[in-house]
Amino acid sequence: MLEHDVIIVGGGLAGCRAALEIKRTDPSLDVALIAKTHPIRSHSVAAQGGMAATLKNVDADDSWEAHAFDTVKGSDYLADQDAVEILTREAPDVVIDLEHLGVLFSRLPDGRIAQRAFGGHSHRRTCYAADKTGHAILHELVNNLRRNGVQLYDEWYVMQLILEDGQAKGILMYHILDGHLEVVRAKAVMFATGGYGRVFNTTSNDFASTGDGLAMSAIAGVPLEDMEFVQFHPTGLYPVGVLISEAVRGEGAYLINSEGDRFMANYAPNKMELAPRDITSRAIGREIRAGRGIHPDGSAGGSYIYLDLRHMGREKIMSRIPFCWEEAHRLLGIDAVHQPMPVRPTAHYSMGGIPVNTEGQVQSGADGLVEGFFAAGESACVSVHGANRLGSNSLLECVVYGKRTGGAIAQYVQNRKLPEINAAPYLKAAQEQIQALLDQPGTSRIGKLRQTFQDCMTEHCGVFRSESVMSEGLQKLQQLQAQYGQIYLDDQGSCWNTEIIEALELRNLIIVGEIILTSALKRQESRGAHYREDFPERDDTNFLKHTMAFYSPAGIDLAYPAVNLSLFEPKERKY
Ligand code: FUM
Repeated sequence: MLEHDVIIVGGGLAGCRAALEIKRTDPSLDVALIAKTHPIRSHSVAAQGGMAATLKNVDADDSWEAHAFDTVKGSDYLADQDAVEILTREAPDVVIDLEHLGVLFSRLPDGRIAQRAFGGHSHRRTCYAADKTGHAILHELVNNLRRNGVQLYDEWYVMQLILEDGQAKGILMYHILDGHLEVVRAKAVMFATGGYGRVFNTTSNDFASTGDGLAMSAIAGVPLEDMEFVQFHPTGLYPVGVLISEAVRGEGAYLINSEGDRFMANYAPNKMELAPRDITSRAIGREIRAGRGIHPDGSAGGSYIYLDLRHMGREKIMSRIPFCWEEAHRLLGIDAVHQPMPVRPTAHYSMGGIPVNTEGQVQSGADGLVEGFFAAGESACVSVHGANRLGSNSLLECVVYGKRTGGAIAQYVQNRKLPEINAAPYLKAAQEQIQALLDQPGTSRIGKLRQTFQDCMTEHCGVFRSESVMSEGLQKLQQLQAQYGQIYLDDQGSCWNTEIIEALELRNLIIVGEIILTSALKRQESRGAHYREDFPERDDTNFLKHTMAFYSPAGIDLAYPAVNLSLFEPKERKY
């Protein structure tokens, strides 16, 4: 059995920032970072538009209070406001710290960090590195892992969280290279495993965003919070769904329907294209439903609208958002200097996740904590985003709460002993699970079942939801669960067997999908990204509360803890 003081699962921004903080706090601690890809290939690398912080380099009258208010209003008042206060107060310091680490932010002519407009923010406060901000930050953080002696296990797939008697003791992992299994024990385990975009058929997320950390936590008995709140980013490039950054609209691009109208005037007249994502995605959906979407031949009635940059001019496009130009050019052959880009909403971000307190320690329910277990980043729900996240607050959350969680872990493990684990039964069960997959005499291809599942989730739990549509979705999901026992694997080997990983990921996707649908069905109101056609209004009397879903194969139980409202009273949300 391997052992370390701390295990961090996930090599994106939150995990790397936590590792750095642990080593800064106590360099003697033995920290391991485990990731199913190399950390440089974590999905954080794809973050484009930027990271919000009230540096006041562009808008001198900005303040953390204004940032906090925008975040809470954007969340449709479901964010925990104590956590939002920490996020927004600590934002400027963490940006400056990243700059000192060497992150190459874009600059104003006077040399200070540049800041741009972003959806739902009342001031220009988003710091950026052109439209490759995640790439710029992640590269520096990964360099710092090496510099600080963090042990890296890359291309190991974590299969199980070992949680016994209310304490996380370690993990079980599978080496993708050769099929070798290992149990690793530690004084603290942290999950920074990212989101689950691959639950849906069109997503900006990479292929690795399969909700593994969420599913492993749920299987281990940890609740998942606010899983019904799925963010659909308004501008996924059609038809592939890859992200065309909100920065494109922050720099001035228009959304145009088949009649050539800037239709956001009808939905958010004060914010136009820079309304929050939930409102903008629904507006696009409504335009398409009303027959004002566009077909590839330019006629009306199609399933996308246009993102029009042409008035911005080549110089601005190429200096501020070169990667978005390149994506449209490489994938569709479109030159956005002269042609509009076809876009439509794409699954982008999970507001919910593993519930944590503001020190990153995982909650076992409304009150208790799980010993030895921490989480941060998209896989966690400290609830700074509530029902709808504002763009450029997720990189911020990863860095602020990655840092805080790292600091808390460094304290937590002092004077703690390594836990006792009897590794043999875990290894035997995992070996049997893999062998059973290899031996399954099924008829279903993994890819086909995954596609059917993703289509089901997209159709039954997308931007627009209702009781009948979701109930039907849950029934279909039960049939798909049964079909999981019918999949077969062509590859029977142990060397780089990606089919085994895909099969394990698919099981996780289906569990996460079931939790999303169940939580969404029971929230009979519309709030943020959760829009119910049968309950179109927000209902603070009955639903100003979080959802906590407790999964078991026999069913999912829901509880509803309170929201922290320490700063602002809920009001009507208008833009
Ligand atoms: O549009 C974007 O660049 C995405 C940013 C975010 O999700 O925060």
